[in-house]
Amino acid sequence: MMEHEEFALRKFVAPEFVFGIDARKLAGRYAKNFGARKVLVVTDPGVVSAGWTYDVLVFLREAGVEYAVFSSVTSNPKTEEVRAGAEIYQREGCNAIVAVGGGSPMDCAKGIGIVSTNNLDILEFEGVDKVGLSTPPLICIPTTAGSAADVSQFAIITDVRRGVKFAIISKMIVPDVALIDPVTTTTMPAELTACTGMDVLCHAIEAFVSTAHSSITDLHALQAIRLVMENLLPAIHEPDNMVLRGMMMQACLDAGLAFSNASLGMVHAMAHALGGLLDAPHGKCNAILLPYVIAFNYEEVPCRYGEIAKAMGLEVKGKAPAEVLSDIVSALGRLNEAAGISVSLGSLGVRRDVIPELAKKAMNDACIYTNPRQPQLQDIESIYEKAL
Ligand SMILES: [Fe+2]
Repeated sequence: MMEHEEFALRKFVAPEFVFGIDARKLAGRYAKNFGARKVLVVTDPGVVSAGWTYDVLVFLREAGVEYAVFSSVTSNPKTEEVRAGAEIYQREGCNAIVAVGGGSPMDCAKGIGIVSTNNLDILEFEGVDKVGLSTPPLICIPTTAGSAADVSQFAIITDVRRGVKFAIISKMIVPDVALIDPVTTTTMPAELTACTGMDVLCHAIEAFVSTAHSSITDLHALQAIRLVMENLLPAIHEPDNMVLRGMMMQACLDAGLAFSNASLGMVHAMAHALGGLLDAPHGKCNAILLPYVIAFNYEEVPCRYGEIAKAMGLEVKGKAPAEVLSDIVSALGRLNEAAGISVSLGSLGVRRDVIPELAKKAMNDACIYTNPRQPQLQDIESIYEKAL
């Protein structure tokens, strides 16, 4: 009946979240309310040494909740780490999970959760809606303003054997609560602030031009773009400024709500291929690829990119589409440079001879389906080539 695209059926999933200074201090109370006897705390060595893991353990102890700690998660979390964590979860008799960290510990925690409840290997959940039973109660405390895994229905896990980063997309891995506390991001070094911030910008831009976008996801995506453009560089220069950190955390949340429900696109498909094959850092890959992918997609949805340009603070009035595109691309180039992010994949150690394999992997990534322009294999190869 209804033919208007804006009224096409769309579903929006989001967890309960508490946003603001000291939200992390609620970890014990939430664990208790979820009926946790013993929680598995999933974290990584960087977060442990920044002090946030211990901080959360104190709140759990105060609430009378026992815990075991699994802290050997690496960046681009691996299937082996999920299996090891699930084993500890079983052995320690845990009945809930608390993730403290960036995207890697949170994605790993989601994996541990569904392996434990479904009693299946992590590889069984690859793809969209492949998870039968949801995770045990899962509390996420993000310590970066980047992945938004704390509010998303995504988990990205690396299968080292195949050299592939695969996506698990299911509402069964949406956390039960996200305790989003900008204080935890004040210990991020400048480089991490920059890379995770550019990941946020990619989430927002890809969600906004996604073929699965909706008016609700648009709202969050545009706000995220505005917030990153206004606050990322200042946050890098003033790491202890709570207002700036709060704005970036808000940007991360907005972008997360947008992409979790609208999905992503070619930048993420291509970055996942790089992460899987070469263990390359996610945010950096995204930042480098973004301008090239925009140039490729642009003609398909110029008006959408016009909206993005406006949210980026660029003047679009009276400008031809080609001019708007070139303004977006140069603004992103300037932002990368000012944020100290290298401009080429070559500088990350990517070699020309791996491009065909990377392109094949990107083509099979779940994120490619919602890209506004469907690429051929050669298109992806040529973008890798240009970004080299
Ligand atoms: Fe991302």
